[in-house]
Amino acid sequence: MLKVIWLGHSAVKISGSKTVLIDPFISGNPAAPYGVDKIGHVDFVFVTHYHGDHVGDAFAICKKTGATLVAIHEIAVEAQEQGITAEGMNIGGTIAVAGVKFNMVPALHSAEKGTPAGVVIDIDGQRIYHAGDTGLTYDMKLIGEFFKPDLSFIPIGDRYTMGIESAARAVEFVQTRRVIPIHYNTFALIDNDPQAFKARVGSLAEVIILKPGEEYAL
Ligand code: NI
Ligand code: MN
Repeated sequence: MLKVIWLGHSAVKISGSKTVLIDPFISGNPAAPYGVDKIGHVDFVFVTHYHGDHVGDAFAICKKTGATLVAIHEIAVEAQEQGITAEGMNIGGTIAVAGVKFNMVPALHSAEKGTPAGVVIDIDGQRIYHAGDTGLTYDMKLIGEFFKPDLSFIPIGDRYTMGIESAARAVEFVQTRRVIPIHYNTFALIDNDPQAFKARVGSLAEVIILKPGEEYAL
């Protein structure tokens, strides 16, 4: 069985035959349910882009747990320079490591280093899309055509990413069966109402609203 836990903001932990942590912004994240010490075993840390609220504790967790960092080339090189085991990749590429497949997909955003990305992860027969930080783009239709994710993590907090209207359209584009909204209510600047998002998505997909620390089984 595959379990996902939302750790507040964009931080997500996927636990199955392997454990994948995405955008582990835990220290300094006012929405994090607990500290880095409670994260437990991690096999892979995926970072969507080089912004503090996404790189977060990624390097520290890799150093502590021996997890492999998976990220865009420039972030992977910086990690390797610090002695971290890292798999660098780029938009459009796919890698398979220890039975987990990472497909790096576009995200329309900015970054201090490298390029922002999203990821589609194939693990234990399930396909999970994490959009990272992004605006709405027609590229998401390609993600839908290529991948049809079983579950998607989509930002809805507006200002720095999609808001409710655009995120609902993204759900339509990516043809996902289920969606968990992220990147909202961490700070006042990105306060938004997940119930309004759910209402807007309607019957397009099942919207699962989690509290930080809450888990969902696929
Ligand atoms: Ni960002
Ligand atoms: Mn962000």
